[in-house]
Amino acid sequence: QVSWKLADHPTLPKGKTLALIVLDGWGEYKPDEYNCIHVAQTPTMDSLKQGAPEKWRLIRAHGKAVGLPTEDDMGNSEVGHNALGAGRIFAQGAKLVDIALASGKIYEGEGFKYISECFEKGTLHLIGLLSDGGVHSRLDQLQLLLKGASERGAKRIRVHILTDGRDVLDGSSVGFVETLESDLAKLRENGVDARIASGGGRMYVTMDRYENDWDVVKRGWDAQVRGEAPHRFANAVEAVKKLRENANDQYLPPFVIVDENEKAVGPIEDGDAVVTFNFRADRMVMLAKALEHQDFDKFDRVKVPKIRYAGMLQYDGELKLPGHYLVSPPEIDRTSGEYLVHNGVRTFACSETVKFGHVTFFWNGNRSGYFNPEMEEYSEIPSDVGITFNVQPKMKALEIGEKARDAILSRKFDQVRVNIPNGDMVGHTGDIQATVVACKAADEAVKMIIDAIEQVGGIYVVTADHGNAEDMVKRNKSGQPLYDKSGKLQILTSHTCQPVPIAIGGPGLEAGVRFRNDVPDGGLANVAATVMNLHGYVAPNDYEPTLIEVVNN
Ligand code: 3PG
Ligand code: CO
Repeated sequence: QVSWKLADHPTLPKGKTLALIVLDGWGEYKPDEYNCIHVAQTPTMDSLKQGAPEKWRLIRAHGKAVGLPTEDDMGNSEVGHNALGAGRIFAQGAKLVDIALASGKIYEGEGFKYISECFEKGTLHLIGLLSDGGVHSRLDQLQLLLKGASERGAKRIRVHILTDGRDVLDGSSVGFVETLESDLAKLRENGVDARIASGGGRMYVTMDRYENDWDVVKRGWDAQVRGEAPHRFANAVEAVKKLRENANDQYLPPFVIVDENEKAVGPIEDGDAVVTFNFRADRMVMLAKALEHQDFDKFDRVKVPKIRYAGMLQYDGELKLPGHYLVSPPEIDRTSGEYLVHNGVRTFACSETVKFGHVTFFWNGNRSGYFNPEMEEYSEIPSDVGITFNVQPKMKALEIGEKARDAILSRKFDQVRVNIPNGDMVGHTGDIQATVVACKAADEAVKMIIDAIEQVGGIYVVTADHGNAEDMVKRNKSGQPLYDKSGKLQILTSHTCQPVPIAIGGPGLEAGVRFRNDVPDGGLANVAATVMNLHGYVAPNDYEPTLIEVVNN
């Protein structure tokens, strides 16, 4: 039985309106021409940094500080928002899958047993993101799963690949497909009929999120399940090389692999098993619904094979989706949102579609829905659909700022929480000029929200979930930009391992509140206790320590 009542903070009052602003993809890095935050005009964020030194600091947002396997793992929005919301560090999907594969426990679980009953007569289909990005999936985990499944009776395997270029360098897809092809060739030598069956770029095929654009999932469905796609190739390396002539890895159109009779080699059929091998939820939930829900109506599936489906993880604990999975997800319980609602903190959360679930679903420990609808309002601003965000780098920053401002001025809420996506979503396109515009727009949204806080005498907390826009090139160890063989600058579309800023302020902040200096390694997980303090409460004992102290002067 959880005791939800939080202790009163000894000195800090309740009832101040608090704006909690998460800039997505906004890290701190040396100022040079590839640091878009530095290049952009960002007077608001600059003034927070240059203002009171005891009210601005950096916190860790990557690696072990957010529950990832190693310090080389860059941060990402899932683990970042999980840590921000939960106030504790949980071993995340990437790590849990590593552990389950290393111990072999993955093969003893209910999920694997469930799918393996199809191995005798059916095909095992593996669908997921093919890269070593470690954000949604990892190639080495796929390799181990291929080996493990074939050793345990899978005789016919089809892999449906999604090319990356977003968590890894653009162009790296070719190498990943070559690696996979050579693994599958080895399996064939051992008598397993293993092949790539279909593919497409992650942002155009399958991996949409938060129901932004079902056409993305449909394109994947047609290729993976029906064996239909506008492009047909005899092998996947050739497919990716050819399609890259007109698109980046992220946006490759869907293709299927066909045999000498032009027949697709691996549509999903009755009696087959399907595993989506991404561990991260947001971009797998839509496909999981299409695979699992009987009454699915978001697009015409045309063919609905009777399959056994398991996710690498269960992607949504509230919806129990999917019902079968290979590895149990992190149990992120007792999040700060749930505590605060129990203690009477009325909450408003807002972003545009592409990041909406970040400040709700991820924030609340991968849980969809409200804790208490009477205390909470979640507001989603529809994202532009069918464009890459370098074309619209301002995205909905202004609209998010306005919504937050109105929520603050309404005085109906104690916490107004937003995610401002620009630095991240535009940063992922690798378009440096557009990312500069994006950062400026994000800064303007921050200003709008801080101005509203000034009006109501409130408090603001501005931070970020991980780095992205502050570094747009791949670098060597000493920080020099790297060039490829043809002399072209290597653009970094991915996140980074840089720390992120956190700033506190506003007229409602009690005199004497400042960042402590005895939490030098503080990270995103320390923010929840900090925010609880600013709402007038002490965080539960097992939360990571608060970043602030109150000194009497
Ligand atoms: C994506 O899903 O867009 C990227 O892989 C990671 O970006 P995010 O972690 O910022 O959402
Ligand atoms: Co991102």
